[in-house]
Amino acid sequence: MYSLVQKYNIPGPRYTSYPTVPYWNMDTFSGKQWKSTLQKSFEESNATEGVSLYIHLPFCESMCTFCGCHKRITKRHNVESPYINSLLKEWALYLDLFSQKPIIKELHLGGGTPTFFSPENLKMLINGILKYADKAEDHSFSFEGHPNNTTREHLQALYDVGFRRVSYGVQDYNETVQKVIHRVQPFENVKKATNWAREIGYTSIGHDIIFGLPFQRMRHVEETILKTKELMPDRLAFYSYAHIPWLKGNGQRGYKDADLPSGEEKREQYEKGKQLLAEVGYHEIGMDHFALPSDDLFQSMETGTLHRNFMGYTASKTQLMIGLGASSISDSWYSFAQNVKSLEEYQHLVANDVVPIYRGHILTNEDQIIRKHILNLMCRFETSWDKKTLYFAELDLVLEKLFEMKQDGLVEIYPDQIKVTEKGRPFIRNICMAFDVLLHRRAPETRLFSMTI
Ligand SMILES: C[S@@+](CC[C@H](N)C(=O)[O-])C[C@H]1O[C@@H](n2cnc3c(N)ncnc32)[C@H](O)[C@@H]1O
Ligand code: SF4
Repeated sequence: MYSLVQKYNIPGPRYTSYPTVPYWNMDTFSGKQWKSTLQKSFEESNATEGVSLYIHLPFCESMCTFCGCHKRITKRHNVESPYINSLLKEWALYLDLFSQKPIIKELHLGGGTPTFFSPENLKMLINGILKYADKAEDHSFSFEGHPNNTTREHLQALYDVGFRRVSYGVQDYNETVQKVIHRVQPFENVKKATNWAREIGYTSIGHDIIFGLPFQRMRHVEETILKTKELMPDRLAFYSYAHIPWLKGNGQRGYKDADLPSGEEKREQYEKGKQLLAEVGYHEIGMDHFALPSDDLFQSMETGTLHRNFMGYTASKTQLMIGLGASSISDSWYSFAQNVKSLEEYQHLVANDVVPIYRGHILTNEDQIIRKHILNLMCRFETSWDKKTLYFAELDLVLEKLFEMKQDGLVEIYPDQIKVTEKGRPFIRNICMAFDVLLHRRAPETRLFSMTI
């Protein structure tokens, strides 16, 4: 295994989209095309599957130094109302494009820290969104809560408007690790927030934990999982720490590369963590996720409806996902579009009735075929094809890479199918990379992606 780690631990995408953002083609993209593909997708899918909404709430009171998310650190809460007004204005710009009332199947509040906002403001935001939309009967509304500032009132306010899922950032329970990543968060806070959610009636509670953090050792991962066992969240994200300090302004400083566990230590932490989680009763779902058999993420894996998009894994697929807020990404199935990242610019554009996107991509036929294989691999650890859908020019190169992975025991190859082996699962990003013809055509000139392990 160790030599495999050395061989495959290379920079690689996490494939929340294909093509990945650095490979979007701006030459074939325009705002006009984005709107027309969005309308097409809406007409095709609103009445049948509904639409998904991702709302980015970028504020945090304090900077965790490991964090790779797009956020703005501030203690001034007077930023809340103007931002909510911009979100509702942006939503109104989308509503103008639709011929009927949207039916919201999924809604996710991500961040930053959604619980930076007061319960009243969050409720106002959701009520504002739902004023001109219907909730799907089987809607799934979720939010990311910070255990240090999620109150019973937050949980109740969001429950009252339809939320039944919450995920808490835990990362690691060890004090030394917490101090290094500037996120001191006692177990008691996580316990309180988890218990409140259960008492109120949330049906899926998730915890995010991370391996590979600075100064994190195997025993810290073990202790974190032991503590997690005391609370038994329904879902667990067990993320590999993504070290991306070259991305300006994301705050990954205060420790050196030498303070991070090596690729091999990281892989051992993952293997041990996975083993402990299995002993406790969790099942592995796609990449970096685990769930109890009672959670719908597990059930969707069993029934083959598991899907992956910019929000990560979801239990059901909608063809159209609209991202609201600074830096959010939307996916119309035929195209992607990303909002401007600067808060000021975002608010300025929206105030001037402009849909605030600044880049995007229209998917070609080839992109759509490869996206299907990557989604199959990410969600089911296998993919199959018929001859006419495997026409891209680099097929020989794709097969050559897959044969090498077969030699290494990572995949099994059949005439019209490949299956990822148990041994191959930790290398799923590498296996998807074999299909990524855009990456083969143009290797990145600078570091774009975190290491795959
Ligand atoms: C937006 S945060 C969660 C909500 C809230 N802000 C909090 O911190 O509790 C989403 C999650 O992304 C994960 N995350 C952030 N930066 C990461 C990194 N560099 N590598 C791996 N996971 C990361 C963390 O597990 C974090 O809980
Ligand atoms: S981990 Fe959460 S609270 Fe910390 S900086 Fe990132 S988004 Fe903010």
